Amino acid sequence: MTRALVPGSFDPVTNGHLDIIGRAAGMFESVLVAVARNSTKSPLFTLQERMDMLSEACAAFDNVEVGSFEGLLVEYAARQGASVVVRGLRAVSDFEYELQMALMNRRLNAAVETAFLMTGTEYSYLSSSIVKEIARLGGSVEGLVPDHVGERLRQQVERSGS
Ligand code: PNS
Repeated sequence: MTRALVPGSFDPVTNGHLDIIGRAAGMFESVLVAVARNSTKSPLFTLQERMDMLSEACAAFDNVEVGSFEGLLVEYAARQGASVVVRGLRAVSDFEYELQMALMNRRLNAAVETAFLMTGTEYSYLSSSIVKEIARLGGSVEGLVPDHVGERLRQQVERSGS
């Protein structure tokens, strides 16, 4: 049984992330979506909120579970018995950073392979950052994130008063 790890910040999960998670769920017996605690970024949502939104969004997949990690991704993958890390590619611009990360992860642990999946073209311009900016500026995020995430974004923007 191959277990795949889909790591990310998921601040918040978008329909582009879900497209990749769905593709991974169709390819691997077991998929663990892992939210990075990520000390280098200052996320809009807490770790728990990001995990809750992901769990709700992934409820329809019966081979997908949600976890979180801190520290090195490859160490978490090894602890969780995941031999493949799945990352989504939207455009060529993603490739350089993703290649660097994949090769560094291989150097750290050659037993963990990285697989890149292409997002659906309708999501090629989508990112959590752009969704947050639209929400902050009062635009509609319908169709970009699940409805429950859109609602949380609206509440969060209201709460932060920005
Ligand atoms: O959604 P993101 O922000 O593109 O996800 C990036 C993430 C969290 C997958 C990446 O930053 C990561 O793996 N962080 C864990 C720390 C680590 O292992 N760093 C070495 C990899 S080069």
